[in-house]
Amino acid sequence: MLSLFPETAAVEDGRLAIGGISASALAEEFGTPLVVYCKRTIEDAARAYREAAPDALPLYSLKALPNVAILRLLAGEGFGADVSTLGELAFALEAGLPGEQIVVHGNNKSDEELRAAAEAKARFVVLDALDEVERAAAAGVRDVLVRVTPGIAADTHEKIRTAHEGSKFGLPPVQALEAVAAARKAGLEPAGVHLHIGSQLLDSGAAVKTVAFLGPFVTYARDELGWEPTVVDLGGGLGIRYVDGERPPEIHDFVSAMLRRLWNGWPGDPPQVILEPGRSLVGRAGVTLYRVGVIKQASEDVTYVAVDGGMSDNPRPQLYGARYSALLANRADEEPAHAYDVCGKHCESGDVLIEGARLPEPRRGDLLAVPATGAYTLSMGSNYNSVPRPAAVLVGDGEAQVIRRRETVADLMRYEEATLSRS
Ligand code: LLP
Repeated sequence: MLSLFPETAAVEDGRLAIGGISASALAEEFGTPLVVYCKRTIEDAARAYREAAPDALPLYSLKALPNVAILRLLAGEGFGADVSTLGELAFALEAGLPGEQIVVHGNNKSDEELRAAAEAKARFVVLDALDEVERAAAAGVRDVLVRVTPGIAADTHEKIRTAHEGSKFGLPPVQALEAVAAARKAGLEPAGVHLHIGSQLLDSGAAVKTVAFLGPFVTYARDELGWEPTVVDLGGGLGIRYVDGERPPEIHDFVSAMLRRLWNGWPGDPPQVILEPGRSLVGRAGVTLYRVGVIKQASEDVTYVAVDGGMSDNPRPQLYGARYSALLANRADEEPAHAYDVCGKHCESGDVLIEGARLPEPRRGDLLAVPATGAYTLSMGSNYNSVPRPAAVLVGDGEAQVIRRRETVADLMRYEEATLSRS
């Protein structure tokens, strides 16, 4: 179980510690729910990407966790960012990333977003629809990639597949070439193609298959248009372990497998490669700490352990049937007694974070630690039931730094300003 936690996680005197600080001390100082990010785990993941693909341009897909401190940490490791909205672009710029290390996505970019990309001198805007060509040119964009949908259904949850036939993302191969031709006509410079087949991939099969698609596609593009992509953006997608038993490939193996296939099947000079990992950089690094409240035996078989958060800080169980595991951070060396259903505090029966978590008999006030919650949790959180979103801290070498302050009810009330000022 500890192997699901960040690299620095350890149990000392029965207490979970991360980055050299006990989870209990972190909860005491910063409150709960709290998302604790381990600096070393992020750095090591970033370095693994750099080592596997030293010549590639690595970008952090910041939708996994838009956070200025994490962007700066990753910038220090040589990472730029992929962004898909005006808001995400603002995070990348705020972190000080230069435009040349930013790639702009989006299946429905507004004119404002296209203009902002041009103003930021983004390295590439990724064309995702035919009507974007003229609009991008009018917005002042010059360098573009075209997102191709190869028609491959990755073996992952259907809601996070993106390259299957019928996907809302990208363009099927023939339309993608139309976009290239139209882009050239409109004065844009199409440098290459982008592919992203899906997320939480637990093997490299579909990724390699997608790369294999590129060889014939590039030959076809050369024959049809006399156009040869010099840049290939392979997207992100590598999965992480959420529960014991899952075995995603190591970063190095996943990236090497794709690159090997790319070099083997490429008809001309090797292209510049761009990678866009999100989850595999920050997912394992994050642990959510919750305080245990009500414990309720609801039936002979079901005992609920209610925590002070839930679907507002992590909607992944509801959206994707995501599974998690947990341990009691303040009693981390005790043997599990039973299986418990960990539920949140929201007004929905579906607000269950973990079904059948094996825990020592929990007591009010215990600290529940849920590993592998660094990606797509805070970024997809909500204020359902007017619950403010958690704080996040970055820990390493015995020090903790707040990287996102806790939201307050007063923050929520600010959206009501217009009404309040009239009363
Ligand atoms: N590039 C593009 C164009 C993407 O759309 C994504 C993710 C990535 C890169 C990064 O993928 P990653 O390495 O994180 O798998 N909310 C879902 C995941 C949605 C992924 C969206 N796109 C979840 O919680 O599982």
